[in-house]
Amino acid sequence: AEAKELPTVIWLHGHECTGCDESFIRSTSPFASDVILNMIALEYTDTLAAAAGEPFEHHLHDILKTKRGKYVLAVEGGVPLDDNGTYCMVAGRPFVDILKECAEGAAFIIEYGSCAAWGGIQAAKPNPTNTVSVSSVVSGKKIIKVPGCPPIPEVMTGVIMHYALFGEIPPLDVEGRPKQFYGNRIHDTCYRRPFFDSGLFVERFDDEGAKAGWCLYKMGCRGPVTYNSCGNLRWWNGLSYPIQSGHGCIGCSERGFWDNDNFYQR
Ligand code: SF4
Ligand code: SF4
Ligand code: F3S
Repeated sequence: AEAKELPTVIWLHGHECTGCDESFIRSTSPFASDVILNMIALEYTDTLAAAAGEPFEHHLHDILKTKRGKYVLAVEGGVPLDDNGTYCMVAGRPFVDILKECAEGAAFIIEYGSCAAWGGIQAAKPNPTNTVSVSSVVSGKKIIKVPGCPPIPEVMTGVIMHYALFGEIPPLDVEGRPKQFYGNRIHDTCYRRPFFDSGLFVERFDDEGAKAGWCLYKMGCRGPVTYNSCGNLRWWNGLSYPIQSGHGCIGCSERGFWDNDNFYQR
């Protein structure tokens, strides 16, 4: 039988910290290496590619032409707009221009991380570079939001694997997030929930309740308003997640989380 063509993926990096890459490469189910080597044809990425420099930029432009209308565009990072986008330059060009050029022929777009999905930390008030989300700049394309700062490794690989296996994008909620990963609030799957229901709350990080693992709601936990899979998938191969380490959820997958009430000031 003829070998099935792997989906072509172009992965751009804008205004960001590369933490989403760091998360992606730690996926164990499937292994990130399996995704990159066997499930997709990752033709362009600034960070994971062996190639670099001008030949690599030429390759990007070849792919934009030869795979027009077929490639998946993954974007990590927000898009700074002020001063003609010069606060984020890639290969000598403003990122916003590269994004628009690559988005034009994309089959669909994945916003990886809260920077791409919502603007991210660099958009925090007063947002000195006027950084916005990818979907604020690109229109007329199907966009999958995969928020989180960073998103969970297996959520990142899971989204692209869904497309590689089934040839279609996963079912999305009204915000454009895959329902299978963002269908529950952190609060819905939290193992500390019985303490919430019993009214047993941590009041200080060094009190008896903290030692006993009570609910972190009064310490600013945003689990009740945050949609993500941390409670059931957990991080690093199911090892732990913020609440399990004794800290409330900061809502890192939610729109504008960086400007929400700062519980470090409580
Ligand atoms: Fe870094 Fe968070 Fe932005 Fe990902 S979403 S690039 S982890 S700041
Ligand atoms: Fe809900 Fe947070 Fe309390 Fe867990 S720790 S039960 S997510 S408020
Ligand atoms: Fe982020 Fe909250 Fe999960 S801070 S990592 S969504 S528990």
